[in-house]
Amino acid sequence: MNRSTDVLVVGGGIVGLAIAVELKLRGAAVTVLSRDFAQAATHAAAGMLAPEAEHLTSPAMRSLCLRSRDLYPDWIRKLESIAGQNAGYWACGILAPVFQEPKAAIAAQWLDATAIHYAQPGLSPDVVGGWWFPEDAQVDNRRLAQTLRSVAASIGVELQEGVEVEAICYASLKSDRRGDRVTAVKTANADWQAEHYILATGAWSAALLPIPTQPRKGQMLSVRVPNLAAGLPLQRVLYGESAYIVPRRDGQIVIGATSEAAGFTPGNTVEGIHSLLHEALRLFPVLKEFAIAEQWWGFRPETPDEMPILGKTHCENLTVATGHYRNGILLAPITAQLIADAVWDRRIDPLLPEFSWRRFQQPRTFATMVSPTPAETPVQTLDVVQTAPQVDDRPLTIAGRTFRSRLMTGTGKYRNFDEMQQAIESSGCEIITVAVRRVQTNAPGHQGLAEAIDWQKLWMLPNTAGCQTAEDAIRVARLGREMAKLLGQEDNNFVKLEVIPDAKYLLPDPIGTLQAAEQLVKEGFAVLPYINADPLLAKRLEEVGCATVMPLGSPIGSGQGIRNQANIEIIIENANIPVVVDAGIGTPSEAAQAMEMGADALLINTAIAQAQNPALMGRAMGMAAIAGRMAYLAGRIPVKSIASPSSPTTGTIA
Ligand code: GLY
Repeated sequence: MNRSTDVLVVGGGIVGLAIAVELKLRGAAVTVLSRDFAQAATHAAAGMLAPEAEHLTSPAMRSLCLRSRDLYPDWIRKLESIAGQNAGYWACGILAPVFQEPKAAIAAQWLDATAIHYAQPGLSPDVVGGWWFPEDAQVDNRRLAQTLRSVAASIGVELQEGVEVEAICYASLKSDRRGDRVTAVKTANADWQAEHYILATGAWSAALLPIPTQPRKGQMLSVRVPNLAAGLPLQRVLYGESAYIVPRRDGQIVIGATSEAAGFTPGNTVEGIHSLLHEALRLFPVLKEFAIAEQWWGFRPETPDEMPILGKTHCENLTVATGHYRNGILLAPITAQLIADAVWDRRIDPLLPEFSWRRFQQPRTFATMVSPTPAETPVQTLDVVQTAPQVDDRPLTIAGRTFRSRLMTGTGKYRNFDEMQQAIESSGCEIITVAVRRVQTNAPGHQGLAEAIDWQKLWMLPNTAGCQTAEDAIRVARLGREMAKLLGQEDNNFVKLEVIPDAKYLLPDPIGTLQAAEQLVKEGFAVLPYINADPLLAKRLEEVGCATVMPLGSPIGSGQGIRNQANIEIIIENANIPVVVDAGIGTPSEAAQAMEMGADALLINTAIAQAQNPALMGRAMGMAAIAGRMAYLAGRIPVKSIASPSSPTTGTIA
């Protein structure tokens, strides 16, 4: 099933909805795909509109937030008049009490102890003063989202709830000379098509695009004012140093929020709720008799600089509006305005480029690294050999691209980036494999990894490590291609395909690998599948169009060396594509052994990364790959069962 619209917004949180409504009001046909509104950070937020209380340090971010706060009253009026319902906006101001007087000069907004206790009765006696931000405000985020949904429905936005986008489909790189275009987004039941696509997927964005968003968990709870008829004990937001208290007009009081690097771990914890209650009572002890109403959690979409990612991507018809971190509710109206300006009216606000995802991109090209013509590519030789004999070898060529080095390495398991960089450098390798999924999820040791490598000198081989099924691997391969592009390798379509359901021996699934390889070849990838040393499977993979085969020597990281020499030799004998021995090599002698057998290249990670001295081992492995190759070309002597004296026996003196 194909569904078509002008603009397809992926994400039904406040940012996606606000953009959809704005575009629709400007005349676009808009569809919103929302996986589960209750999971969006919008639902979890407290609704503070706090550009001043949040103490934003970046001028661009402060300006964006202040502009958005200024838009709020009119935006709310417009939405309320269309929906005919109250959206819960309250220009209540935010008070930020402190327990220790600040050293710095006091700003105009400063209230001393007398003034703050007069302004807000019931504060802890430990409060020594604080700031008053009269223009900061709040909105009941759940009401606002409900209002936006009503507006969307009444103006004709097609809102599809419960629809999860699994992948973004792109036009083939080869056939589309206009550059990349998104052709559809894939869901379980349908491909959705549009002229333009907008990704507003918050903390989940990195699952669809290689952009540096990650979840930052926040736990929250609410209490109820016991006797609403007696009036609200709190009529402004209290923004404490470790918690905030947000009173609603209906008697609910929201208390937030923890800030945890816990991935997507769901649930409230004793420690989380305890810390919130402790900090809230420390600030405003009046709450101690109030009944607890609800507790919940959510995931803020965090970016490395805590600013959102807004605007066009490398695809001309794909825009992102994500990474709003702590300020998604506040930034909804300005995001909607700037994105609608850019997408529908082709007007770029001067502030928008400040939030481009290009700020995380290294401006690089790969054009100079390797020659496209094999004849011009000198084969790597040992620079330690002063009088190296002429090596009559062709360079390693994979999917039309040539490389001087026959050693590929990885990025996993290094103790630190310094050791990794030195080992890569000393090994002389030109191809580096990177686990897409681990980079995307910022797995331990992978934060900043992709940026720590000089992609001008090294060719990226994104791998699908961590994928247990063909579908998973296909999705991650697509992400890998985008990652390579983002890092400056526009024409990199390589993928090291790993489909590994077996956690103990990390042995690849031959059927899943073949299925994924077929699909990825169709999508224009240069597929380098990691396989068990099965000659028939290797041949099938060659027949479906893989660029290499990568049989394992022994299980990944085991250091057991080449345990299946006979099968690898058959694979090498039959192959018309490069055979790369991957996994299990523990020592340079085993690396050389694989090359002497006639392997075209090696992939070695653990043996280098976990060596006591990775740089030295990298160098040794690089030399072993060259030595093994030279020995293969030189032609080894046959193995004999009896001795053959080194000195000639003819002409000896009797
Ligand atoms: N906007 C407040 C928070 O993210 O906790």
